[in-house]
Amino acid sequence: STKAVILVGGPSRGTRFRPLSLDVPKPLFDVAGHPIIEHCLSAITKVPEIKEVFIVGYYDESVFRDFIKDSAKEFPHISLKYLREYQALGTAGGLYHFRDAILKGNPDRFFVLNADVCCSFPLGEMLRLFEDKDAEAVILGTRLSSAEAATNFGCIVSDAHTKRVLHYVEKPESPISSLINCGVYLFSTECIFPSIRSAIKRRTERPRLVSYPSSENLESSFYAEQADDDGEDKQEVIRLEQDILSDLADSRQFFVLETRDFWRQIKTAGSAVPANALYLQKAWQTESTRGDLAQPSANIIPPVYIHPSAHVDSSAKLGPNVSVGPRARIGAGARIKEAIVLEDVEVRHDACVLYAILGWSSKVGAWARVEGTPTPMTSHSTSIIKNGVKVQSITILAKECAVGDEVRVQNCVCLPYKELKRDVANEVIM
Ligand code: GDD
Ligand code: GTP
Repeated sequence: STKAVILVGGPSRGTRFRPLSLDVPKPLFDVAGHPIIEHCLSAITKVPEIKEVFIVGYYDESVFRDFIKDSAKEFPHISLKYLREYQALGTAGGLYHFRDAILKGNPDRFFVLNADVCCSFPLGEMLRLFEDKDAEAVILGTRLSSAEAATNFGCIVSDAHTKRVLHYVEKPESPISSLINCGVYLFSTECIFPSIRSAIKRRTERPRLVSYPSSENLESSFYAEQADDDGEDKQEVIRLEQDILSDLADSRQFFVLETRDFWRQIKTAGSAVPANALYLQKAWQTESTRGDLAQPSANIIPPVYIHPSAHVDSSAKLGPNVSVGPRARIGAGARIKEAIVLEDVEVRHDACVLYAILGWSSKVGAWARVEGTPTPMTSHSTSIIKNGVKVQSITILAKECAVGDEVRVQNCVCLPYKELKRDVANEVIM
């Protein structure tokens, strides 16, 4: 049988998702009308042989409780549990720590999904490749426009004919390949746990080089050093990407499924807007989900999602790629496109919202404009250069912000509870 693990990280991660992650953990943020993690889960539930799914992270126990309850109703044939790491153990450390739970019932293999990616999750195709090749591991890959752009991700060098992974380097310093790691894997249980065990063993046997902590892995390095101090039997941070995958490439039956479907990372708060667009487009193209979206009309340019409890004036024009959350109210003559409108937001008459996220209970005044700047659909970044300064291309209002009547807000990130009474551009409003 097959199981699946969704890696969610914890409260110290997702800092680039601020200010939205101040109010909700990133995996639970709504994109295209559903929490980010639900898009992963719903893909997993389409693989008939998966009966058990684990969410692994170091958020508090209570964080996923409601989500798990709701999912049990929606997917009654799946057992979904949250497994909490007592501290950040790294992407492989978490799997290893909970190996007994994963191995129970002797599954032959299991999927691992990074919660913070948006894609079509072609898990069925990964399974087929796994079986065809009698693989020990399959990784989902996607091709970027250049090897240069790929250096922000894990890079894969593969044999075009056999699809074998020859070489894997996490965020290489110089370009090696334009094929990148999508953060979705299928591992044979027989191969992955021994690989992690030998990585741990190698660590404790040879003196460790603790790299200088960058702001991103400060916490993991801290724990790694602490574990060193406390003796050898303590868990360390073990990462799939740095500690396991390159070894697999050297010696194992490791293959890559290259997807030609959409794929994006959800890192910055602004990246929720392209993810929203891609998931809405997918729902629109799928017969079974199309009905969940708003019907096209003179004022609805699909795809648009409107929560049943939201109220949208019939003279407001919405779309494409707009999600409107519970109890939001959109006034007459308003224009919204490429945007996420969260719960209890009010957009008053004739306001214009483009390339933006409106946070919970925010208010946009009459004739106001809240707008970001479009980035090319092929771009994997949501920042742009304005007057020589890097700014977010998506305008974000955090929770309970208020934009006055006729005020224009352009390429700004606005922290919670701010009131904007005059025009602002290219600023972080604190
Ligand atoms: N449970 C748990 N414990 N989860 C973790 C931990 C941990 O200690 N650390 C990270 N995660 C989760 C994150 O929440 C995320 O879902 C995933 O693991 C990977 O996060 P990062 O370690 O921050 O890596 P990254 O996102 O910069 O890069 C990874 O994903 C890219 C694709 O989006 C790598 O796998 C890259 O190679 C890949 O290209
Ligand atoms: P199309 O007819 O499909 O091109 O839509 P549109 O005319 O609404 O324009 P588009 O989708 O390209 O982008 C929205 C544009 O609407 C903005 O660039 C504004 O110029 C304009 N706009 C600004 N404020 C308002 C407003 O209050 N109501 C409406 N309806 N439009 C506005």
